[in-house]
Amino acid sequence: MSRTFPDRFLWGAATAAYQVEGSPLADGAGASIWHRFTHDPRLMIASGDTGDVACDHYNRMEGDVELMKQLGLQAYRFSISWSRILPEGTGRVNQAGLDFYRRLVDRLNDAGIVPLPTLYHWDLPAALDDRGGWLNRDVAEWFGEYAAVMYRALDGEVRRWATLNEPWVVADGGYLNGVLAPGHRSIFECAIASRNLMRAHGRAVQAYRETGRHEVGVVFNIEPKFPASDRPEDVAAAARADAYMNRQYADPALLGACPPELRDVYGEAWEDWSADDLALACQPVDFVGINYYTRSVVRASESAWPLRAEAVVQEGAQHTETGWEVFPPAMTRTLLWFRERYGEIPLYIMENGAAFADPASSADGPIADEDRCRYLAAHIGAVHDAIAAGVDVRGYMVWSLFDNLEWALGYAKRFGIVHVDYDTLARTPKKSADLYRRIVESNGAAI
Ligand code: NOJ
Repeated sequence: MSRTFPDRFLWGAATAAYQVEGSPLADGAGASIWHRFTHDPRLMIASGDTGDVACDHYNRMEGDVELMKQLGLQAYRFSISWSRILPEGTGRVNQAGLDFYRRLVDRLNDAGIVPLPTLYHWDLPAALDDRGGWLNRDVAEWFGEYAAVMYRALDGEVRRWATLNEPWVVADGGYLNGVLAPGHRSIFECAIASRNLMRAHGRAVQAYRETGRHEVGVVFNIEPKFPASDRPEDVAAAARADAYMNRQYADPALLGACPPELRDVYGEAWEDWSADDLALACQPVDFVGINYYTRSVVRASESAWPLRAEAVVQEGAQHTETGWEVFPPAMTRTLLWFRERYGEIPLYIMENGAAFADPASSADGPIADEDRCRYLAAHIGAVHDAIAAGVDVRGYMVWSLFDNLEWALGYAKRFGIVHVDYDTLARTPKKSADLYRRIVESNGAAI
Protein backbone atom coordinates (compact mmCIF):
# COMPACT_ATOMS: atom_id res chain seq x y z
CA MET A 1 0.00 0.00 0.00
CA SER A 2 1.48 3.38 -0.83
CA ARG A 3 0.17 6.54 0.75
CA THR A 4 1.92 9.77 1.42
CA PHE A 5 1.00 12.41 3.91
CA PRO A 6 0.95 16.20 3.54
CA ASP A 7 4.28 17.98 3.33
CA ARG A 8 5.55 18.95 6.76
CA PHE A 9 3.40 16.27 8.43
CA LEU A 10 5.10 15.73 11.78
CA TRP A 11 6.03 12.18 12.83
CA GLY A 12 7.08 11.50 16.37
CA ALA A 13 6.73 9.51 19.55
CA ALA A 14 5.36 10.30 22.99
CA THR A 15 6.07 9.68 26.67
CA ALA A 16 5.08 11.32 29.95
CA ALA A 17 7.20 12.45 32.89
CA TYR A 18 6.14 10.09 35.66
CA GLN A 19 6.04 7.13 33.29
CA VAL A 20 9.64 7.40 32.09
CA GLU A 21 11.79 9.82 34.08
CA GLY A 22 12.44 8.14 37.42
CA SER A 23 14.27 10.09 40.18
CA PRO A 24 11.01 11.82 41.12
CA LEU A 25 12.54 13.70 44.04
CA ALA A 26 15.93 14.52 42.51
CA ASP A 27 17.50 17.96 42.54
CA GLY A 28 14.95 19.63 44.76
CA ALA A 29 11.76 18.34 43.12
CA GLY A 30 8.65 18.15 45.26
CA ALA A 31 6.61 14.95 45.45
CA SER A 32 3.70 14.53 43.05
CA ILE A 33 0.41 12.78 43.72
CA TRP A 34 1.71 9.84 41.69
CA HIS A 35 4.74 9.52 43.92
CA ARG A 36 2.43 9.43 46.91
CA PHE A 37 -0.02 7.08 45.26
CA THR A 38 2.58 4.47 44.39
CA HIS A 39 4.15 4.67 47.86
CA ASP A 40 1.02 4.61 50.01
CA PRO A 41 0.33 0.98 50.96
CA ARG A 42 -3.41 1.63 50.98
CA LEU A 43 -3.47 3.05 47.49
CA MET A 44 -0.57 1.67 45.59
CA ILE A 45 -0.99 -0.25 42.42
CA ALA A 46 -1.35 -4.02 42.54
CA SER A 47 2.14 -4.85 41.30
CA GLY A 48 3.74 -2.51 43.84
CA ASP A 49 5.49 -0.77 40.95
CA THR A 50 6.55 2.85 41.38
CA GLY A 51 8.05 5.55 39.19
CA ASP A 52 11.20 5.70 41.32
CA VAL A 53 13.39 4.43 38.51
CA ALA A 54 11.03 3.93 35.56
CA CYS A 55 13.16 4.17 32.39
CA ASP A 56 15.69 6.38 34.20
CA HIS A 57 15.16 8.93 31.46
CA TYR A 58 16.00 11.70 33.92
CA ASN A 59 19.61 10.45 33.98
CA ARG A 60 19.78 9.06 30.46
CA MET A 61 18.12 11.90 28.58
CA GLU A 62 21.07 12.69 26.31
CA GLY A 63 21.37 9.09 25.15
CA ASP A 64 17.63 8.93 24.67
CA VAL A 65 17.64 11.94 22.36
CA GLU A 66 20.45 10.28 20.43
CA LEU A 67 18.27 7.18 20.11
CA MET A 68 15.35 9.27 18.87
CA LYS A 69 17.64 10.68 16.23
CA GLN A 70 18.69 7.20 15.16
CA LEU A 71 15.03 6.24 14.89
CA GLY A 72 14.49 9.20 12.58
CA LEU A 73 11.90 10.88 14.79
CA GLN A 74 10.87 14.40 13.78
CA ALA A 75 9.09 15.23 17.03
CA TYR A 76 9.12 14.15 20.65
CA ARG A 77 6.07 14.63 22.84
CA PHE A 78 6.90 14.61 26.54
CA SER A 79 5.41 16.10 29.66
CA ILE A 80 6.82 18.43 32.25
CA SER A 81 6.67 17.47 35.90
CA TRP A 82 5.03 20.43 37.64
CA SER A 83 6.61 19.57 41.00
CA ARG A 84 10.13 19.56 39.54
CA ILE A 85 9.52 23.17 38.52
CA LEU A 86 7.50 24.36 41.53
CA PRO A 87 8.14 21.93 44.41
CA GLU A 88 5.29 23.48 46.42
CA GLY A 89 3.10 23.80 43.33
CA THR A 90 3.17 27.61 43.43
CA GLY A 91 5.69 30.25 44.40
CA ARG A 92 9.32 29.18 44.54
CA VAL A 93 10.82 27.99 41.26
CA ASN A 94 13.34 25.15 41.38
CA GLN A 95 16.00 26.12 38.89
CA ALA A 96 17.40 22.58 38.66
CA GLY A 97 14.00 21.35 37.47
CA LEU A 98 13.82 24.00 34.79
CA ASP A 99 17.37 23.19 33.75
CA PHE A 100 16.47 19.57 33.06
CA TYR A 101 13.74 20.51 30.59
CA ARG A 102 15.86 23.26 29.08
CA ARG A 103 18.63 20.73 28.41
CA LEU A 104 16.09 18.31 26.94
CA VAL A 105 14.60 20.94 24.66
CA ASP A 106 18.04 22.16 23.58
CA ARG A 107 19.18 18.63 22.78
CA LEU A 108 16.02 18.01 20.80
CA ASN A 109 16.35 21.21 18.83
CA ASP A 110 20.04 20.48 18.15
CA ALA A 111 19.00 17.07 16.85
CA GLY A 112 16.34 18.64 14.63
CA ILE A 113 13.54 17.03 16.67
CA VAL A 114 10.53 19.23 17.42
CA PRO A 115 9.81 19.40 21.17
CA LEU A 116 6.11 19.01 22.02
CA PRO A 117 5.70 19.50 25.76
CA THR A 118 2.51 18.89 27.70
CA LEU A 119 2.20 20.84 30.92
CA TYR A 120 0.04 18.36 32.82
CA HIS A 121 0.20 14.62 32.37
CA TRP A 122 -1.38 13.63 35.70
CA ASP A 123 1.37 14.34 38.24
CA LEU A 124 -0.07 17.16 40.35
CA PRO A 125 2.32 18.49 43.01
CA ALA A 126 1.39 16.74 46.27
CA ALA A 127 1.59 20.10 48.04
CA LEU A 128 -1.36 21.23 45.94
CA ASP A 129 -3.29 18.06 46.66
CA ASP A 130 -2.93 19.03 50.32
CA ARG A 131 -4.80 22.20 49.40
CA GLY A 132 -7.58 20.29 47.67
CA GLY A 133 -5.87 19.63 44.35
CA TRP A 134 -8.28 19.59 41.41
CA LEU A 135 -11.16 20.17 43.81
CA ASN A 136 -9.96 23.64 44.77
CA ARG A 137 -11.13 26.33 42.37
CA ASP A 138 -7.79 28.09 42.88
CA VAL A 139 -6.14 25.32 40.89
CA ALA A 140 -6.90 27.33 37.74
CA GLU A 141 -4.68 30.13 39.04
CA TRP A 142 -2.02 27.71 40.25
CA PHE A 143 -1.89 26.05 36.85
CA GLY A 144 -1.80 29.42 35.09
CA GLU A 145 1.16 30.46 37.25
CA TYR A 146 3.08 27.26 36.50
CA ALA A 147 2.27 27.51 32.80
CA ALA A 148 3.55 31.08 32.68
CA VAL A 149 6.82 30.01 34.34
CA MET A 150 7.31 27.44 31.60
CA TYR A 151 6.36 29.78 28.77
CA ARG A 152 8.73 32.45 30.05
CA ALA A 153 11.54 29.92 30.34
CA LEU A 154 11.13 28.04 27.08
CA ASP A 155 8.85 29.76 24.59
CA GLY A 156 11.87 30.72 22.52
CA GLU A 157 12.74 27.06 22.04
CA VAL A 158 9.27 25.49 22.06
CA ARG A 159 6.73 26.44 19.45
CA ARG A 160 3.79 24.24 20.41
CA TRP A 161 2.52 23.71 23.95
CA ALA A 162 -0.26 21.51 25.24
CA THR A 163 -2.00 22.32 28.50
CA LEU A 164 -3.66 19.13 29.77
CA ASN A 165 -3.39 15.53 28.74
CA GLU A 166 -6.66 13.58 28.85
CA PRO A 167 -8.65 15.47 31.48
CA TRP A 168 -11.29 12.71 31.45
CA VAL A 169 -8.78 10.18 32.78
CA VAL A 170 -7.70 12.58 35.53
CA ALA A 171 -11.27 13.07 36.75
CA ASP A 172 -12.66 9.58 36.16
CA GLY A 173 -9.62 7.57 37.30
CA GLY A 174 -8.51 9.94 40.04
CA TYR A 175 -11.78 11.17 41.51
CA LEU A 176 -14.58 8.76 40.56
CA ASN A 177 -13.05 5.29 40.37
CA GLY A 178 -10.00 5.81 42.56
CA VAL A 179 -7.73 3.70 40.36
CA LEU A 180 -5.37 6.57 39.59
CA ALA A 181 -3.89 9.27 41.80
CA PRO A 182 -5.16 10.76 44.05
CA GLY A 183 -7.37 7.69 44.45
CA HIS A 184 -10.69 9.27 45.41
CA ARG A 185 -14.11 7.73 44.80
CA SER A 186 -16.81 10.35 44.62
CA ILE A 187 -19.08 11.37 41.80
CA PHE A 188 -19.45 14.79 43.39
CA GLU A 189 -15.69 15.26 43.31
CA CYS A 190 -15.50 13.98 39.74
CA ALA A 191 -17.87 16.72 38.59
CA ILE A 192 -15.91 19.40 40.45
CA ALA A 193 -12.52 18.14 39.25
CA SER A 194 -13.76 18.03 35.64
CA ARG A 195 -14.85 21.62 35.77
CA ASN A 196 -11.65 22.80 37.44
CA LEU A 197 -9.53 20.93 34.91
CA MET A 198 -11.15 22.82 32.08
CA ARG A 199 -10.98 26.13 33.96
CA ALA A 200 -7.27 25.49 34.52
CA HIS A 201 -6.81 24.70 30.85
CA GLY A 202 -8.49 28.00 29.97
CA ARG A 203 -6.32 29.91 32.40
CA ALA A 204 -3.15 28.37 30.92
CA VAL A 205 -4.29 29.37 27.42
CA GLN A 206 -4.94 32.93 28.64
CA ALA A 207 -1.48 32.97 30.20
CA TYR A 208 -0.07 31.90 26.85
CA ARG A 209 -1.75 34.76 25.07
CA GLU A 210 -0.09 37.11 27.57
CA THR A 211 3.38 35.54 27.41
CA GLY A 212 3.72 33.18 24.46
CA ARG A 213 4.32 33.78 20.78
CA HIS A 214 3.55 30.51 19.06
CA GLU A 215 0.85 27.85 19.56
CA VAL A 216 -1.05 26.39 22.45
CA GLY A 217 -3.60 23.57 22.53
CA VAL A 218 -4.99 20.73 24.61
CA VAL A 219 -5.03 16.94 24.33
CA PHE A 220 -8.20 14.85 24.63
CA ASN A 221 -8.67 11.09 24.66
CA ILE A 222 -11.47 10.28 22.26
CA GLU A 223 -13.05 6.84 22.26
CA PRO A 224 -16.08 6.76 19.97
CA LYS A 225 -19.10 4.99 21.39
CA PHE A 226 -21.10 2.77 19.07
CA PRO A 227 -24.59 1.69 20.19
CA ALA A 228 -24.84 -2.09 20.38
CA SER A 229 -28.18 -1.99 18.54
CA ASP A 230 -30.69 0.46 17.08
CA ARG A 231 -32.83 0.18 20.19
CA PRO A 232 -33.42 3.68 21.54
CA GLU A 233 -32.14 2.60 24.99
CA ASP A 234 -28.80 1.55 23.48
CA VAL A 235 -28.57 4.68 21.37
CA ALA A 236 -29.21 6.81 24.45
CA ALA A 237 -26.69 4.78 26.46
CA ALA A 238 -24.02 5.36 23.80
CA ALA A 239 -24.84 9.08 23.81
CA ARG A 240 -24.40 9.23 27.61
CA ALA A 241 -21.10 7.37 27.40
CA ASP A 242 -19.91 9.70 24.65
CA ALA A 243 -20.99 12.79 26.58
CA TYR A 244 -19.19 11.57 29.68
CA MET A 245 -15.91 10.48 28.13
CA ASN A 246 -15.55 12.63 25.04
CA ARG A 247 -17.76 15.69 24.88
CA GLN A 248 -17.55 16.52 28.61
CA TYR A 249 -14.18 18.15 27.98
CA ALA A 250 -14.13 19.05 24.30
CA ASP A 251 -17.53 20.79 24.37
CA PRO A 252 -16.73 23.36 27.05
CA ALA A 253 -13.26 23.98 25.63
CA LEU A 254 -14.34 24.35 22.03
CA LEU A 255 -18.06 25.19 22.09
CA GLY A 256 -18.43 26.90 25.46
CA ALA A 257 -21.20 24.54 26.59
CA CYS A 258 -21.63 21.29 28.51
CA PRO A 259 -23.32 18.27 26.92
CA PRO A 260 -26.91 18.05 28.23
CA GLU A 261 -26.60 14.30 28.92
CA LEU A 262 -24.25 15.05 31.82
CA ARG A 263 -27.15 16.04 34.06
CA ASP A 264 -28.51 12.58 33.61
CA VAL A 265 -25.12 10.95 34.20
CA TYR A 266 -24.18 12.90 37.33
CA GLY A 267 -27.65 13.22 38.85
CA GLU A 268 -27.57 15.29 42.01
CA ALA A 269 -23.80 15.69 41.70
CA TRP A 270 -24.30 17.87 38.64
CA GLU A 271 -24.19 21.61 38.93
CA ASP A 272 -24.56 23.80 35.86
CA TRP A 273 -21.40 25.73 35.07
CA SER A 274 -21.62 29.46 35.46
CA ALA A 275 -21.26 31.62 32.36
CA ASP A 276 -17.88 32.75 33.72
CA ASP A 277 -16.60 29.20 34.07
CA LEU A 278 -17.72 28.34 30.55
CA ALA A 279 -16.09 31.47 29.20
CA LEU A 280 -12.85 30.66 31.01
CA ALA A 281 -12.78 27.09 29.68
CA CYS A 282 -13.54 28.19 26.12
CA GLN A 283 -10.38 29.96 25.01
CA PRO A 284 -9.42 29.85 21.34
CA VAL A 285 -6.76 27.19 20.86
CA ASP A 286 -4.31 26.78 17.99
CA PHE A 287 -4.62 23.01 17.76
CA VAL A 288 -6.17 20.02 19.47
CA GLY A 289 -4.34 16.80 20.23
CA ILE A 290 -6.29 13.58 20.00
CA ASN A 291 -5.31 10.34 21.69
CA TYR A 292 -7.02 7.42 20.02
CA TYR A 293 -6.64 3.77 21.00
CA THR A 294 -9.95 1.99 20.59
CA ARG A 295 -13.70 2.29 20.23
CA SER A 296 -16.35 0.94 22.50
CA VAL A 297 -19.67 -0.74 21.71
CA VAL A 298 -22.21 0.17 24.34
CA ARG A 299 -25.59 -1.06 25.50
CA ALA A 300 -28.03 0.18 28.10
CA SER A 301 -27.66 -1.35 31.56
CA GLU A 302 -29.62 0.06 34.48
CA SER A 303 -27.21 -1.41 37.02
CA ALA A 304 -24.07 0.13 35.51
CA TRP A 305 -23.55 3.21 37.67
CA PRO A 306 -23.36 6.06 36.86
CA LEU A 307 -23.70 5.86 33.08
CA ARG A 308 -26.39 3.18 32.91
CA ALA A 309 -24.35 1.93 29.98
CA GLU A 310 -21.94 -0.96 29.66
CA ALA A 311 -19.39 -2.01 27.10
CA VAL A 312 -20.13 -5.09 24.99
CA VAL A 313 -16.98 -7.09 24.30
CA GLN A 314 -16.66 -7.81 20.59
CA GLU A 315 -16.08 -11.55 20.43
CA GLY A 316 -13.82 -12.54 17.59
CA ALA A 317 -12.14 -9.15 17.35
CA GLN A 318 -8.48 -8.71 18.22
CA HIS A 319 -7.85 -7.14 21.62
CA THR A 320 -4.64 -5.68 23.00
CA GLU A 321 -3.07 -6.63 26.33
CA THR A 322 -5.05 -3.84 27.98
CA GLY A 323 -8.24 -5.42 26.64
CA TRP A 324 -8.88 -2.78 24.00
CA GLU A 325 -10.48 -3.82 20.74
CA VAL A 326 -8.32 -3.15 17.69
CA PHE A 327 -10.62 -1.23 15.37
CA PRO A 328 -8.80 1.23 13.09
CA PRO A 329 -11.83 2.52 11.11
CA ALA A 330 -13.06 4.23 14.27
CA MET A 331 -9.96 6.38 14.22
CA THR A 332 -10.95 7.77 10.83
CA ARG A 333 -14.47 8.23 12.10
CA THR A 334 -13.23 10.02 15.22
CA LEU A 335 -11.28 12.52 13.16
CA LEU A 336 -14.21 13.15 10.80
CA TRP A 337 -16.57 13.52 13.75
CA PHE A 338 -14.22 15.91 15.46
CA ARG A 339 -14.08 18.21 12.46
CA GLU A 340 -17.82 18.04 11.95
CA ARG A 341 -18.59 18.89 15.57
CA TYR A 342 -15.84 21.36 16.39
CA GLY A 343 -14.92 22.84 13.03
CA GLU A 344 -11.62 23.36 11.27
CA ILE A 345 -8.99 23.11 13.99
CA PRO A 346 -5.55 21.71 13.21
CA LEU A 347 -5.36 18.27 14.80
CA TYR A 348 -2.43 16.20 15.98
CA ILE A 349 -2.63 12.56 16.93
CA MET A 350 -0.75 12.94 20.18
CA GLU A 351 -1.02 9.26 21.12
CA ASN A 352 -1.81 6.04 19.35
CA GLY A 353 -0.33 2.63 20.03
CA ALA A 354 -0.85 -0.68 21.74
CA ALA A 355 0.36 -2.97 24.50
CA PHE A 356 1.00 -6.50 23.32
CA ALA A 357 2.85 -9.40 24.88
CA ASP A 358 6.00 -9.06 22.83
CA PRO A 359 7.92 -12.16 21.84
CA ALA A 360 11.34 -12.61 23.40
CA SER A 361 14.28 -11.10 21.59
CA SER A 362 16.49 -13.41 19.63
CA ALA A 363 20.16 -13.21 18.77
CA ASP A 364 19.50 -12.62 15.11
CA GLY A 365 17.15 -9.71 15.03
CA PRO A 366 14.99 -7.23 16.87
CA ILE A 367 11.98 -8.22 18.98
CA ALA A 368 9.45 -9.18 16.33
CA ASP A 369 6.44 -7.29 17.67
CA GLU A 370 4.31 -8.08 14.65
CA ASP A 371 1.02 -7.24 16.37
CA ARG A 372 2.25 -3.74 17.16
CA CYS A 373 3.57 -3.31 13.62
CA ARG A 374 0.17 -4.23 12.22
CA TYR A 375 -1.63 -2.02 14.73
CA LEU A 376 0.50 1.00 13.87
CA ALA A 377 0.33 0.52 10.12
CA ALA A 378 -3.45 0.10 10.18
CA HIS A 379 -4.02 3.14 12.36
CA ILE A 380 -1.65 5.33 10.39
CA GLY A 381 -3.64 4.22 7.34
CA ALA A 382 -6.81 5.28 9.15
CA VAL A 383 -5.32 8.71 9.78
CA HIS A 384 -4.50 8.94 6.11
CA ASP A 385 -8.11 8.14 5.24
CA ALA A 386 -9.24 11.08 7.38
CA ILE A 387 -6.73 13.39 5.73
CA ALA A 388 -7.89 12.20 2.31
CA ALA A 389 -11.42 13.15 3.40
CA GLY A 390 -10.19 16.66 4.15
CA VAL A 391 -9.45 16.62 7.89
CA ASP A 392 -6.52 18.86 8.82
CA VAL A 393 -4.31 16.38 10.68
CA ARG A 394 -0.79 17.70 11.07
CA GLY A 395 1.09 15.04 12.95
CA TYR A 396 1.15 11.60 14.51
CA MET A 397 2.89 10.55 17.74
CA VAL A 398 3.29 6.87 18.61
CA TRP A 399 2.53 5.86 22.17
CA SER A 400 5.10 5.11 23.22
CA LEU A 401 8.73 5.65 22.48
CA PHE A 402 9.63 3.31 25.37
CA ASP A 403 8.05 0.57 27.40
CA ASN A 404 7.20 2.42 30.59
CA LEU A 405 5.04 2.61 33.73
CA GLU A 406 1.50 2.03 32.50
CA TRP A 407 0.06 3.76 35.58
CA ALA A 408 -2.04 1.38 37.69
CA LEU A 409 -1.09 -1.51 35.40
CA GLY A 410 2.59 -1.15 36.25
CA TYR A 411 5.46 -2.16 33.99
CA ALA A 412 3.86 -5.37 32.78
CA LYS A 413 2.00 -3.71 29.92
CA ARG A 414 4.47 -2.73 27.25
CA PHE A 415 3.54 -0.05 24.70
CA GLY A 416 7.04 0.85 23.50
CA ILE A 417 8.51 0.68 20.03
CA VAL A 418 11.72 0.51 22.05
CA HIS A 419 12.05 -2.31 24.58
CA VAL A 420 13.31 -1.41 28.05
CA ASP A 421 15.01 -4.06 30.15
CA TYR A 422 14.00 -3.02 33.65
CA ASP A 423 17.01 -4.76 35.21
CA THR A 424 19.71 -3.19 33.09
CA LEU A 425 17.65 -0.28 31.68
CA ALA A 426 19.04 -1.15 28.26
CA ARG A 427 17.00 0.22 25.39
CA THR A 428 16.50 -2.03 22.36
CA PRO A 429 14.44 -0.92 19.37
CA LYS A 430 11.78 -3.46 18.40
CA LYS A 431 10.78 -4.32 14.86
CA SER A 432 8.03 -1.68 15.15
CA ALA A 433 10.72 0.97 15.65
CA ASP A 434 12.29 -0.09 12.40
CA LEU A 435 8.94 -0.02 10.62
CA TYR A 436 8.20 3.38 12.09
CA ARG A 437 11.58 4.72 10.95
CA ARG A 438 10.71 3.67 7.42
CA ILE A 439 7.25 5.21 7.70
CA VAL A 440 8.74 8.50 8.85
CA GLU A 441 11.44 8.47 6.21
CA SER A 442 8.92 7.87 3.44
CA ASN A 443 6.36 10.30 4.88
CA GLY A 444 3.90 7.48 5.34
CA ALA A 445 4.45 5.59 2.11
CA ALA A 446 5.98 2.60 3.91
CA ILE A 447 2.84 1.48 5.74
C1 NOJ B 1 -3.11 7.53 27.64
C2 NOJ B 1 -2.15 8.25 28.51
O1 NOJ B 1 -2.01 9.58 28.15
C3 NOJ B 1 -0.82 7.56 28.66
O2 NOJ B 1 -0.19 8.09 29.78
C4 NOJ B 1 -1.03 6.06 28.74
O3 NOJ B 1 0.12 5.37 29.07
C5 NOJ B 1 -1.58 5.59 27.43
N1 NOJ B 1 -2.83 6.26 27.15
C6 NOJ B 1 -1.84 4.11 27.32
O4 NOJ B 1 -2.83 3.75 28.22
